[in-house]
Amino acid sequence: MITLFFKKLYNYQIKMSTFILGIESSCDDTSAAIIKNTKILANIVANQEVHKKYGGVVPELASRAHQQNIIPVIESALQKAKINKKQLNAIAFTRGPGLLGSLLVGTSFAKSFALGLNIPLIEVDHLQAHILAHFIEDEENKSIPEFPFLCLTVSGGHTQIVIVKDYFDMEIIGKTIDDAAGETFDKAAKILGLPYPGGPEIDKYAQEGNQNIFKFPEPDIPDLNFSFSGLKTSFLYFIRDRLKENPRFIEQNQADLCASIQLTIINVLMKKLKAAAKKTGIKQIAIAGGVSANSQLRKVLKNTEKELGWKVFIPKFEYTTDNAAMIAITGYFKFLKKDFTDQKAVPYARASSQ
Ligand code: KG4
Ligand code: ZN
Repeated sequence: MITLFFKKLYNYQIKMSTFILGIESSCDDTSAAIIKNTKILANIVANQEVHKKYGGVVPELASRAHQQNIIPVIESALQKAKINKKQLNAIAFTRGPGLLGSLLVGTSFAKSFALGLNIPLIEVDHLQAHILAHFIEDEENKSIPEFPFLCLTVSGGHTQIVIVKDYFDMEIIGKTIDDAAGETFDKAAKILGLPYPGGPEIDKYAQEGNQNIFKFPEPDIPDLNFSFSGLKTSFLYFIRDRLKENPRFIEQNQADLCASIQLTIINVLMKKLKAAAKKTGIKQIAIAGGVSANSQLRKVLKNTEKELGWKVFIPKFEYTTDNAAMIAITGYFKFLKKDFTDQKAVPYARASSQ
């Protein structure tokens, strides 16, 4: 019923061109994207190098960097899309969850820009947006998931298994009870002396390593929930003990350590994802969020697709980590429903159900 409504509106709108500016500023990436219906014309991301030396995101520095980046990023997006700001039909922005100071920069900018241009303002939930990035149609005959599908959302702040019943009808059936998968990659990297963000670093070194050399305990948590804090602690103690025996332990085993911890994290994720697919009977499986950029996780999913007869949806690399293209596509679907927000909108730091 809802889907039919969307399809009708979609077919109607596709004949017209709707331009939406998406703004993302929830963590440490300042991003602006322009979408024309479901096609991305520009997706500009300014990463904040400033956090590298601190081994994690420093909230105060993140807000300041967003403040500096936001105007140049939006100007570049408009330039790349070759459109004038007067052609914009709406502005979509991330309202939460995320770092409050960071969210305030994007929210305040979006509100004043929409007011100045006298166009609608659309609030977007960051986690829904990661999932809806699958509906960006920037390749010919791109296959998009059909409802209902399962999505494993794995980022620096979240780890969830979601049943996606419709664009805005999502049910979380499993989540982490402590740390997120991305956070575990980042912490493991920090223990190994690698810079932030650690996920891409571990991914890179793991490609040269043997994933079966070191074994780490996989948590045993009931239902479809996850836990990563025990794994993180056992990795820390393991490295600390080995360094006592051999101060060069990390440098001599870096690739194998990266491959082994990566395998453990992937095993934890895949075990629950398989259980969720079995429990729900859903075989359309998507992944989203920064950790979905992981090359080994992508490989494992592709193999599982063959093994279990799944249909797997893996986002384009640029739509895995934080980006405004996902905010713009979510904004487009809300625009079709005329789901607008007003100038009273304030950011929220935490999701109602994480
Ligand atoms: O979605 P995202 O950009 O931000 C949040 O919403 O949190 O995710 C960032 C997380 C970081 O923890 C980063 O280390 C992880 O995604 N990440 C990766 C890879 N690329 C980014 N983790 C594993 N392998 C990667 N290739
Ligand atoms: Zn994210």
